[in-house]
Amino acid sequence: MIKSLEFIGPMATVEGWRPTNELPEVAFAGRSNVGKSSLLNRLVRRKAFARVSNTPGRTREINFFKVNDTFVLADLPGYGYAKVSKTRKAEWLPLIEGYLRASTALRGVVQLLDVRHHPSEEDLQMFDFLAEIEVPTIVALTKIDKLKPREVAKRVHEIAVALRLEDDQMIPFSAETNQGRDDLAAALMSLIEQPSWRAAPTTLELEMEPGETSVDAVSGEAERLDVPP
Ligand code: GTP
Ligand code: MG
Repeated sequence: MIKSLEFIGPMATVEGWRPTNELPEVAFAGRSNVGKSSLLNRLVRRKAFARVSNTPGRTREINFFKVNDTFVLADLPGYGYAKVSKTRKAEWLPLIEGYLRASTALRGVVQLLDVRHHPSEEDLQMFDFLAEIEVPTIVALTKIDKLKPREVAKRVHEIAVALRLEDDQMIPFSAETNQGRDDLAAALMSLIEQPSWRAAPTTLELEMEPGETSVDAVSGEAERLDVPP
């Protein structure tokens, strides 16, 4: 249930970034025109909260939306639009990557792909980057209303193979018909509710029983959990 929405504001440069709060944050990434702003509007059930446009490359900053005072959605500028000048591209990539590396509130990324197209070189670079920083990632396949259901299923499989993912790791979605919205919202909430992977305790710590001794993988020092009296 969306009770309140607040536009926190744009972040135009990494240097200009000030953490607004430590509310958990999920970012939306994808090529220009893939439907990021449209998907965001559907998620929060508003017509024009994030600006949708027929001019690719319209979202030029990272826009933050606070929802119900409990989490933040970050609409990233689209990458990979050919007509965008090289200078603009040179500005955006460090902005997106800098933000994704730096945000301590980030819990996950929703990566959008147009269901009709094979992932582009830039999409694959983005996936590599997300894998490198190990951020939990959901894949949303947009504009499924443009294909017949049977074709959608085929494309889901083809894209999964291209990304070395399972079919069920992808969420087919349409901002036109709202299909897939609830699946997406559920996946989003599971990202938001998990602890940050950046500060996650090591598996050793998680699996340790009181009184057990383990060796810290990094420092090599032995650790022991105190047994309660
Ligand atoms: P940038 O801000 O430029 O990166 O684009 P964006 O990814 O935010 O895309 P946006 O949501 O602005 O949508 C781009 C165009 O695609 C608009 O004309 C939308 O109406 C259209 N569009 C978005 N999602 C869908 C969808 O699911 N189905 C259909 N048919 N059109 C869509
Ligand atoms: Mg946009």
